Amino acid sequence: MLTLGIESSCDETAIAVVQNGNKVLSSIVATQIETHKIYGGVIPEIAAREHLRNIYPLFQKALDKSAISTKHLELIAVTQGPGLIGALLIGVSFAKALGYALNIPVQPVDHVHSHIHGALLGCQTEVTFPALSLVVSGGHTNLYYMSHLTDFQLLASTMDDACGECFDKVAKMLGLDYPGGPQIEKMAREGDPSRIKMPKIMADHTASGFSYSGLKTHMYYLLQKEANLSDQRKKDICAAFQDEAFHQILRKLKIFLPVYKNEIKSVIIAGGVAANKRFRELISTAICDIPVFFPDLTYCSDNAAMVAALGWHLHHNQNSSFSMQWDAYSRYSFEAVTRS
Ligand code: KG4
Ligand code: ZN
Repeated sequence: MLTLGIESSCDETAIAVVQNGNKVLSSIVATQIETHKIYGGVIPEIAAREHLRNIYPLFQKALDKSAISTKHLELIAVTQGPGLIGALLIGVSFAKALGYALNIPVQPVDHVHSHIHGALLGCQTEVTFPALSLVVSGGHTNLYYMSHLTDFQLLASTMDDACGECFDKVAKMLGLDYPGGPQIEKMAREGDPSRIKMPKIMADHTASGFSYSGLKTHMYYLLQKEANLSDQRKKDICAAFQDEAFHQILRKLKIFLPVYKNEIKSVIIAGGVAANKRFRELISTAICDIPVFFPDLTYCSDNAAMVAALGWHLHHNQNSSFSMQWDAYSRYSFEAVTRS
């Protein structure tokens, strides 16, 4: 079955064609980074207008690249949320119109969940369940227990800023370009984290959420005190910040892994921040007795192949009807499934 994936939740317009939930025939992403860079972050109104401009040409390109026509499509999967409402509406309206025109079902997909399916695309070995899955992106830092491919039970989530968001904000304070994650990683490679003392955020073992606003504020005051930073000092600060941002996640995993150790067969790491090499190193060193799966770099950041993959599984597992009685939703999902 050929699924068309559509992603427009933030600053990437993406279209993909995926066969049977795992074979990517085409995956095209039009990033708006250059457009938003001058503002130091994403401007929602501009993002929506860019999606509107890009979506149809990208759709045609994706069909051409897959060497198929619209009559071969059997399912449309679209990011329903969370995301910027104006941006989401472009993808959802396009998907619904196409679904009506082609008389094929349209499957709404949660963007954060779809990142986990991005990590499964192109995996050489099969991922077995139950699994613990961590999504670390610009908008979310979520840990899930998954008994199977379409079961997402939330164990811990962002209480304030997300990890990637914190990278972006700290990068801005340091005068680095948007998005800040890759810039900080680059600087940190030549820095020494031990030269800067950092607070241990959320070291309290009873707290189940993630928090990055305290770390962001700490960085703000640290940088206020440091006038005329040398290049080396900047690199040391980036290395220390990056390590603390990741150590918070490692501390959280240390709480949850023993609880589910006897059940889980895999750990899946996903989202834009999962592209970070230092993060991968730290995770791989911390988890040595359970197979850990990271996304191919192509599928770390926002793309539509992950949306098509999850949409295909949802459609098959839940036997979704043809209903279009749903709409785009913004930052929060209507029903969060939380595991107590
Ligand atoms: O998953 P994603 O593409 O979009 C969201 O759904 O949010 O994640 C984007 C986030 C940005 O905050 C970006 O700075 C961060 O991922 N990011 C990184 C790296 N590459 C992207 N953070 C740290 N290190 C990286 N190499
Ligand atoms: Zn994302």
